[in-house]
Amino acid sequence: MQKTETEIPNMQKTEIPNMQKTEIPNMQKTEAEQIWEDIYRSASPETNGRPGVALQKFTEGLTPGSALELGCAKGDDAVWLAIQGWTVLAVDISSIALEYAAANASRNGVGNLIRFERHDLARSFPSGTFDLVTVSFLHSPIDWPRAKVLSRAAEAVSRGGHLLIVEHASRAPWSWAAPNTQYPTADETLASLSLRGNDWSYLHVAAIERRATGPDGQTAMVRDNVIFLRRI
Ligand SMILES: C[S@@+](CC[C@H](N)C(=O)[O-])C[C@H]1O[C@@H](n2cnc3c(N)ncnc32)[C@H](O)[C@@H]1O
Repeated sequence: MQKTETEIPNMQKTEIPNMQKTEIPNMQKTEAEQIWEDIYRSASPETNGRPGVALQKFTEGLTPGSALELGCAKGDDAVWLAIQGWTVLAVDISSIALEYAAANASRNGVGNLIRFERHDLARSFPSGTFDLVTVSFLHSPIDWPRAKVLSRAAEAVSRGGHLLIVEHASRAPWSWAAPNTQYPTADETLASLSLRGNDWSYLHVAAIERRATGPDGQTAMVRDNVIFLRRI
């Protein structure tokens, strides 16, 4: 299974039936919100329908329960989780991405299993705890408190629940990241979470290789860090 890293073209506005409009303090759009809305405004609502490789590999043996997905984009991971039996809260900064994701969920008959909330995770975070918190490729072209957001994601995992963080560990040839981008190791990202060691089982903390598909169908081998933990 591969994931297309970037897509673009036109959008159609659709109602998001189960989207909770979250108040983000200060009604002006932040730079981050503006950037991601612009990306999705020029993107196709279509998705490739494929969930993340690591998400499938690491979570398919789990007993479905409640899941929180941070940075859900057009919803392929949330839809896959819902099809597996999870009830999902899917979060993104972009209201356009959330509209696409909601349409994706309805198309796949799982609209009733996924709720959507808009958050700029640098400023607000969904409430509650979850059996699974999944965060895939939550990268941003601007500076933002990523380690703080990932730590907050860990706090949102229930006892006995799982945290899955997947992030780029190498640069795809078509990436917007600067060619000299330094990627953290999985251990460095884990350390940035400042977890209490006794509270967690470290199930997988290492990079995996994946054949990725770019926006024009080109492919390349890339490395992703996978941090997969169970809260004790
Ligand atoms: C590179 S995409 C990855 C999407 C998807 N999780 C995947 O695996 O393909 C990053 C997503 O995170 C969202 N995002 C970026 N910054 C965010 C923030 N501060 N708060 C919430 N979502 C954010 C973007 O809108 C985008 O949908």
